[in-house]
Amino acid sequence: MKRLIVVSNRVTPSDEGNASAGGLAVAVLAALKQRGGLWFGWNGETCQGTDPNPEIVKAGSLTFATLPMPEPDFDLYYNGYANRSLWPLFHYRTDLAFFDHNFFEAYLRINGLFATKLLPFLQEDDLIWIHDYHLIPMGQHLRDAGMKQPIGFFLHTPFPAMEILLTLPNHKSLIKSLCAYDLVGFQSTSDLRAFHDYIIHEAGGEIFESGVVRAFGRTTLARVFAISIDTKTIAQQSIRAIRTKAVNRLSKSLNERVLVIGVDRLDYSKGLAQRFRGYERLLKHYPENLNQVVFLQIAPPSRTEVPEYVDIRHELETLAGNINGYFAEFDWIPVRYLNKGYTMQRLAGFYRIGRVGLVTPLRDGMNLVAKEFVAAQNPADPGVLVLSRFAGAAQELTEALIVNPFDVDDLSNAIQRAITMPLEERRKRWGAMMETLKKNDIFSWRDSFLSELEKAPATLEGA
Ligand code: F6P
Repeated sequence: MKRLIVVSNRVTPSDEGNASAGGLAVAVLAALKQRGGLWFGWNGETCQGTDPNPEIVKAGSLTFATLPMPEPDFDLYYNGYANRSLWPLFHYRTDLAFFDHNFFEAYLRINGLFATKLLPFLQEDDLIWIHDYHLIPMGQHLRDAGMKQPIGFFLHTPFPAMEILLTLPNHKSLIKSLCAYDLVGFQSTSDLRAFHDYIIHEAGGEIFESGVVRAFGRTTLARVFAISIDTKTIAQQSIRAIRTKAVNRLSKSLNERVLVIGVDRLDYSKGLAQRFRGYERLLKHYPENLNQVVFLQIAPPSRTEVPEYVDIRHELETLAGNINGYFAEFDWIPVRYLNKGYTMQRLAGFYRIGRVGLVTPLRDGMNLVAKEFVAAQNPADPGVLVLSRFAGAAQELTEALIVNPFDVDDLSNAIQRAITMPLEERRKRWGAMMETLKKNDIFSWRDSFLSELEKAPATLEGA
């Protein structure tokens, strides 16, 4: 089995017990443990000077190599190009996207720095797997340095429709560098379709039935690999969690009321403002819910130095305040809005006592909360998932109540339908979704990507 080299912007600390480790971290750690290898990325800090050295931590057959990023490039790369240019654009928010050539140049420099610092760790027969929009050009830098190993890339965000992507000033150079990988993985068929569209109509390239793409004088294999969760572990965690003090406290505090729950990073792509308005409309149009329902929205702040994130935070504070000011009673607060995060185990318990899970992003690559909510349910009395059609997860979890997150009436009607759904229908819908998640878990995602990556050079040669 080939040694695996994983590169991502953030690297999860080596203490595996960390219950809040996300889906990617779980999969990457499992893949690294299976094969042995290296996880390379940013250590979360900045430094003076332009030549930082990686810090190396060994844990059995795994090595973690992390480095700080030079100021001021870090700011231009992370708060700038990654999160003010690419993130909004990839989530179809051209209105929020901001372009500055200094951002792009810093992005290229950081990608170059990552490649240069990774080189001394590489061996000839390694498999290299690079993750996410922060690091698209890194594969190209490795190729330029003469690396011949199979190099794969997985995009954890949506890939935007061609007309949206064309608004990015350096789109050609970015997509050309994406074509330097042997294998490019997308979350959903709509992302792959958008990529194909760009290749054919903008790059003048070709797509073959095998999934091979030829453009910019390069060939690459582009496929869909729907990321998932550790379904079994989350189901077990939710059983353990309902016996804990915290989950009991939440349960008691509801006082028999129905719990509607949402858990999202505080990000404008998550559709939180529309969700709050949908809930407000539920209380107006279906007044039987007054004093009978509690909406718990957990939203840990994210990318707090980016101005658009400051704006959405203010907007949500105002909305939550308005709803509570208007509807609350001396013994009932309709919205509990929390700017903090919880461990996976605790969340699993919260999900399990939720009657309705709201996952209504305006655009999302996959959305693992949707999958976690389903995995955490009690089979005898499962809750209902209300899911945006614009989340990648909607392509698999078709038995959820699928909504248009821009349509506030659709949201409020779906919440009402979820609250009043008969037990038999809830069980049927949940059972079908759980079957899907048992088959397609995070480990099958990892295995299918890595086996394609191992075969990719031969596939490309034959193309
Ligand atoms: O899923 C997209 C993503 O950018 C991941 O790469 C990242 O770990 C997560 O969102 C959180 O974002 P950030 O690293 O900017 O806090």
